[in-house]
Amino acid sequence: MDKKIRQLGFIHRFIPSDRKEPKSRTSFATILLLHGTGGNEEDLISLGHEIAPGAALLSPRGKVLENGLPRFFRRLSEGVFDIEDLKFRTNELADFVEEASKVYGFDLQRLVAIGYSNGANIAASGLLLRPDFLSYAILFRPMVPLIPEVLPNLGAKHILISAGLHDPIVPSQDTKNLLNLLKKAGAETSINWQNSGHELSLEEIKKAKDWLFSVILPK
Ligand code: MLT
Repeated sequence: MDKKIRQLGFIHRFIPSDRKEPKSRTSFATILLLHGTGGNEEDLISLGHEIAPGAALLSPRGKVLENGLPRFFRRLSEGVFDIEDLKFRTNELADFVEEASKVYGFDLQRLVAIGYSNGANIAASGLLLRPDFLSYAILFRPMVPLIPEVLPNLGAKHILISAGLHDPIVPSQDTKNLLNLLKKAGAETSINWQNSGHELSLEEIKKAKDWLFSVILPK
C-alpha cells in the first residue's frame, strides 16, 4: 500500500468518481460514508452509489471497539457519550478527511457526509466542532452529540436530517433539539420524518438523493 495512504491512519476505502456519469451533478462530489455501530468501511458503499451516482466515495472504519464492534467514538451507555473521546475522535476524523483530500485530490467544498446512527452522530459533531471539513451532510437517525461551547457559523452548510417517528434509540425530541441547534448556527436544514424506527427505508434513501440533487451546486 502507498505510504501516504497508510499514514492517513484510518482503515478505509476510497473509490474514485465514475467518469461515465459526467452529467450527474453528484459525480463532482466526494461522499464521506460513516457507518453505524458494528459496521465497517464496506457497509454504506452501495448506499453512497445510490444517493450520489458517479461520486467518489471515502469510507473510513470507526476506530473505537465496543465489545468488538467498531464505532466512531466511545459511549458510556446507550445515548450517553464520552464527550472527551467524542471531541478527540471528531478532530481525528476531520484531520483524516483533510489529509485524504490532499492524497486523493478531492475538493472539501464538495464533500458530503452521509452518516447512519453512530456515523451520523460523529458527522453532527464534526459540523459543530470542525465545520470546515464538511459542506453538506445527510444525517440518518442522528441525535445531539454534544453542545459546543461556541456555536459555529454554519451559514454555508446544507444539512438533511432523516428521522424515524418510532425510533426506539433516538427520541423525536432529541432530533428536534439537533435541528434547532443546527438552525441556530445558521445552517440550511431540511428534515424528513419517516413512519419507521431506527432502520432505514428505501423511500427515505430516494428522498435523500432528491434532496442532494436539489442542493449540490453544479460544477
Ligand atoms: C450512538 O451511540 O452513537 C447512538 O446511540 C447510536 C448507536 O450507535 O446506537
